[in-house]
Amino acid sequence: MEQTRVPLLEAVDRLIDTKPAYFRIPGHRLERGICEDWTRKTGTGIFAYDVTETPFTDDLHCPEGAIMEAQELLSRLYGADRSFFLVNGTTCGNEAMIMSAAFAGQKIMIARNAHKSAMMGLVLSGAEPVYVMPDVLSDWGIQGGISPLMVRRTFEKNPDCKALFLVSPSYYGVASNLKEIANICHEFGALLLVDEAHGGHLYFSSRLPVGALEAGADMCVQSMHKVTGALTQSSVLHIKRHAGTELDVERVVSSLQLVQSTSPSYLLMISLDCARKELAVNGKKMMSSALELAEYARNEIRKIDGFRCMGEEVTGVSQIDGVDLTRLVISAKDIGLTGFELDALLFEKYDVNMELSDYENALAIVTYANTRDDMDRLIEACRMISMEKVRGIGGHGYNKKNDIYVTNMPLPPVPEQALTPREAYFSETEEIEWGKAAGRIAAQPIAPYPPGIPIVCAGERISAEAWEYIESFRRDGRHIHGGVNGKLDMVKVIADKVNV
Ligand SMILES: Cc1ncc(COP(=O)(O)O)c(C=O)c1O
Repeated sequence: MEQTRVPLLEAVDRLIDTKPAYFRIPGHRLERGICEDWTRKTGTGIFAYDVTETPFTDDLHCPEGAIMEAQELLSRLYGADRSFFLVNGTTCGNEAMIMSAAFAGQKIMIARNAHKSAMMGLVLSGAEPVYVMPDVLSDWGIQGGISPLMVRRTFEKNPDCKALFLVSPSYYGVASNLKEIANICHEFGALLLVDEAHGGHLYFSSRLPVGALEAGADMCVQSMHKVTGALTQSSVLHIKRHAGTELDVERVVSSLQLVQSTSPSYLLMISLDCARKELAVNGKKMMSSALELAEYARNEIRKIDGFRCMGEEVTGVSQIDGVDLTRLVISAKDIGLTGFELDALLFEKYDVNMELSDYENALAIVTYANTRDDMDRLIEACRMISMEKVRGIGGHGYNKKNDIYVTNMPLPPVPEQALTPREAYFSETEEIEWGKAAGRIAAQPIAPYPPGIPIVCAGERISAEAWEYIESFRRDGRHIHGGVNGKLDMVKVIADKVNV
């Protein structure tokens, strides 16, 4: 019953009801001082909730009242021991997880396809990464899951790793076998930290992959703004203790204080409180609606000439343990369109906004808040594109001779780690021609995209094999992240005078 409450919203309501003479921050005075160009469109109501710490409204960094209650309700809903509201996205949660799990000089195992916030976490903590490669799902040119066996082997070689950090599910909705991976981590006395940015909704349907906390993760972070009803930047961090692992909750708290504002937005925190209530009360219905809409679109798109839409069939392939079927991974390469071109056509000609695109696919995130009409517009636009076989805007054209994807090439070995990401970040750098980069230490990751797995990470010496591998992508005109100004003609490396 108590999950129907929204303690933080109620607390701010109590403050507003006192009609205070307000001399605190923010300066717009609850709603009066917002630019009229904006309030004419939105009305003033919402701005009254943009308040700060008061005796009614508690303090995120030292919660004892409404925020504490709201976070406790969140913990209970997800089956966590402690949960924290985050106002700087999953980005700051990932940083805090890494900073609290591994200190300078200690080792942490990291999936090579981790979001860049993991790299920022490594810079902040000074920990030494030991990488594990995700598999590649060649048919779709995207990353697969992380192999439990590879995790075990990496722990056997590096038993002093304090934790494993990985992303599951991925942007494309593919999940790793977290249950098996959690057991392996705990066997080695290490923590499992899961970037569950795309998985806050998994807990509300048995048709979705198992959530990280249910699978045995020690910590996870979820972007509640990505798939549930919270405002942009609103995320949560959950902790679940397991016997035999060391998890320093106070260290998590102090790390969060380091990476979050001292003026957290109450609009964002209220949105988390309300999103939690909605999930608690209506979560199952919401997820079943999202799944139904996505399934409808998947079936219709699959009937369209030259279009493919990924589904359950990839489970069991490339270390994928489950798929979030609310994600629509759509490919029209059979009619000669790259994912970039399909995305651009949908946007420019049909006002259909996809979340992202890559060389092969365009990705739609379907949520409970989409409508049948949204799905029909997407399906109809795909039908029109198929009929017109429109080509040639905003991309470089799918090259038929590359039917065998470059992503099928075996990845080169992980290069020598000359500097930790932290040392690399604080070193002097220089820009040099890509042709002269072999043997130098990369200052930033270089990743052919898709599948977006860095071949070289910051602080690693660019080996001859890694250079050749990346060069083959470059010669083919493929997208590569990590060059200067978006091109691989020049790259940033550690300056020659740095002695390593
Ligand atoms: C896998 C993954 N982790 C972390 C993040 C960062 O999340 P946020 O935008 O909530 O800071 C993203 C953002 O897209 C992401 O895709």
